[in-house]
Amino acid sequence: MNTKHKVIFGNCMSMTELSDESVHFIVTSPPYFNAPFDYKGLFENYEQYLGVIKRMAREAYRVLQNGRIFALNIDDMLVNGQKYPITADTIKIFQSVGFRYRDKIIWKKPDGYLRISKRSGVLLQNPYPMYFYPDNLLESIVIFQKGKFDYHSISKEVREQSKIDKKEFQDNNWHKTIWEMTNVLPGSKLEKNIAAFPDELAYRLIKLFSYVGETVLDPFLGSGTTMKIARQLYRNSIGYEIIRDLESVIRKKVGFETIKNSDTFKVVERNNGKYRYVTLEYIESKKNADNSKNNGN
Ligand SMILES: C[S@@+](CC[C@H](N)C(=O)[O-])C[C@H]1O[C@@H](n2cnc3c(N)ncnc32)[C@H](O)[C@@H]1O
Repeated sequence: MNTKHKVIFGNCMSMTELSDESVHFIVTSPPYFNAPFDYKGLFENYEQYLGVIKRMAREAYRVLQNGRIFALNIDDMLVNGQKYPITADTIKIFQSVGFRYRDKIIWKKPDGYLRISKRSGVLLQNPYPMYFYPDNLLESIVIFQKGKFDYHSISKEVREQSKIDKKEFQDNNWHKTIWEMTNVLPGSKLEKNIAAFPDELAYRLIKLFSYVGETVLDPFLGSGTTMKIARQLYRNSIGYEIIRDLESVIRKKVGFETIKNSDTFKVVERNNGKYRYVTLEYIESKKNADNSKNNGN
């Protein structure tokens, strides 16, 4: 099965390239406000940040087919000693634009992993009350739905092609509200300076919430994790990304650099309302996509 993938370099606050109800599943991870390591000082203030989330959410609601899911990987953020309730505020925003808040999954990173600093070290240096600052190993994956899904709208054939492996589902604990997944390691070259989520996160969600041949959207594409996995799972994909320079990273990650076959990869640049179709390539075959299939690691 050939799939189509399109990167639009532009701001996801207005997704004018996409028509109403044209995508089947959205999965993304926005910047986490002014996260000290990744996005220090990116937004002037918290209200501005929430404004970006709201405009993106409104657009997402418009382009998502009725009955479908938006999976949002997000977390509260500690900036200069103050914790910003991003998850709660975002849930409220999504509800205000029409989404139903359906579920929350907690992503737990491995015990030994801490990306920024061991906050708990403060107590070890000062083993007295009031010196407690916990180390954070958690992020949220919030599941929103637009309206009600019509299970009869999917053909028998597509249903079968998209069947979920019950053993994989049970053995890897997909059925719980806690997903233990290893994060992208800080030393990873391709994702340098991009707070990428792991392949596994996209893999589970795309399998659980979209059918083969459908279109998956990531409004904050980053390094292209969603696109890479969508392609491996025979879904089409569209990604918005504001940083033009990430094209080469995305190409590499999705595997559009080296493999020759028949999927399409299109790059669109939007600049002050003007468009420039930068490249159009025809690449890769089913065989190659099979070879690079996610093995769940
Ligand atoms: C947390 S990263 C996404 C990482 C991605 N999930 C991955 O695995 O690589 C957020 C991305 O959103 C991009 N971004 C920020 N604001 C944007 C906007 N308004 N429209 C489109 N992209 C935006 C950033 O440049 C960054 O690459």
